[in-house]
Amino acid sequence: MTVTRSTEVTFSLNGQQTTVAAGTTILEAAQETGVEIPTLCWASNLTPVNACRLCVVEMEGSRALVPACSRECEPNAVINTDSERVALSRKMVLEFLDTTNDLTQSSELQTLIELYGADASRYSDPVRSEDPVKVEDDLFVRAYDRCVLCYKCVEACGDDAQFTFAISMAGRGFETRVSTEFETPLPESACVYCGNCVGVCPTNALQFKAEFDLRQTPDWDPESQTSTDTICSYCGVGCTLEVHTQDNEIFKVTSPSDHSVTAGHLCVKGRFGWQYVQPPTRRPPTNH
Ligand code: SF4
Ligand code: SF4
Ligand code: FES
Repeated sequence: MTVTRSTEVTFSLNGQQTTVAAGTTILEAAQETGVEIPTLCWASNLTPVNACRLCVVEMEGSRALVPACSRECEPNAVINTDSERVALSRKMVLEFLDTTNDLTQSSELQTLIELYGADASRYSDPVRSEDPVKVEDDLFVRAYDRCVLCYKCVEACGDDAQFTFAISMAGRGFETRVSTEFETPLPESACVYCGNCVGVCPTNALQFKAEFDLRQTPDWDPESQTSTDTICSYCGVGCTLEVHTQDNEIFKVTSPSDHSVTAGHLCVKGRFGWQYVQPPTRRPPTNH
């Protein structure tokens, strides 16, 4: 007997009968139909790791809320992405993250905190990370007091993009942190400075040194910043670069995550090799 697997799945999404290709996740189905589900550890160019639980939704018959980013749609399932229980769960996730981390440089999380009415001050004894900022080179800094342990940098450094495996999660419980092998300083580690970890970090825990320096001055002004698309001039691959500038000075280079060549990832030259455009001698001095 030949068993044929249906190539489509029909289920209820917020009361609407919805049909998607088999294997589609709840998040992808929601995105296809214009239903918004917040995410933190998920990214279109990385494998889902189910670390944050921000994307949870209610599935009838399931005792626990299910993660939309990795759960595939099931035939006849009844999914609610916007129930009271879902909203409360997301609010608490955001509050827990806000009590332990500095989220002020993540505009997406700030928007969600407001949307779900998350109030970290409800917790009388927050456990803030007190990791000092690691400034070990001129390319990027690591400010782990902003790190929400989403695993994105680890995935990007590993088998989702770079295959360098210079960083991974170390420790347990409150001691869990992103680390190089034996906490080796980055310049002496296996890191090849592709910056793909920086490109996927959702909280600015990893950020360009040029951006970090600019943020220390009173001149940091998001309103006046622009992003210009160009093609990397270093080799024939032709990666698209988004060059972020303020006052005609580059402070960051990214690539679109939906780009067919880069999927948002670059090499050290495209990511950090812009010094020939603006040698340090042309930059105004900073105060530290
Ligand atoms: S810069 Fe590249 S190699 Fe270095 S830690 Fe980040 S992802 Fe890994
Ligand atoms: S450094 Fe950034 S990308 Fe890495 S785990 Fe922390 S928040 Fe996520
Ligand atoms: S976005 Fe789904 S678990 Fe983090």
